Amino acid sequence: MNVAVLASGVGSNLQALLERVHGREGVSIVAVASDRVDAPALSRAREAGVACASFPVGRYRAREARDLAMAGWLVEREANLVVLAGYMALLSPSFLLRFPGRVINVHPALLPAFPGLGAVAQALAYGVKVFGVTVHFVDEGVDTGPVILQRAIELADAREPADVLARLQEIEHDLLPEAVTLIARGAVSLDPVNPRRVLIER
Ligand code: GRF
Repeated sequence: MNVAVLASGVGSNLQALLERVHGREGVSIVAVASDRVDAPALSRAREAGVACASFPVGRYRAREARDLAMAGWLVEREANLVVLAGYMALLSPSFLLRFPGRVINVHPALLPAFPGLGAVAQALAYGVKVFGVTVHFVDEGVDTGPVILQRAIELADAREPADVLARLQEIEHDLLPEAVTLIARGAVSLDPVNPRRVLIER
């Protein structure tokens, strides 16, 4: 399976994928793309010898044109799974049409609670005691696609977003590689009775 990773920031999830799934069980990370020219994730890709490119929206006439250019570049690299690992822009429907059912995302909350930006701040403001991470398929909504994996952590006295995020990132670095490995094994499918439900064969 050829995996493409989209990342806007630091790229610690990309790093976890490079260390834990790249070159194992028939999984290869073939491309890393970013909406930001200066994303540190791109340097991580370069260091690992993985093709990388940036697609800042300002270079195109609109977001959709950017997304189509990016999709075209990923198709050229024969990517057949796209992983959003801290990719902070919305993908247009025409991008998703190029990879139907083959785009996944990692989100630092237990969806459907706290979708969108600032999930950890939202959760802290709400006063929850249990936080968590979701890996899900991407559909046209914001963090609304079918849930593949989730893991919770109780942090009853949490106050600082940075502390919570650090604990959640440890979970992300486990859960996202696990999801990619399961998909590569063909162990992930949608329940025909309720396609919101993701079935996992272990
Ligand atoms: C992750 O916490 C992810 O859940 C969120 O953005 C962060 C990206 O971190 N969407 P990194 O760039 O992978 O270090």
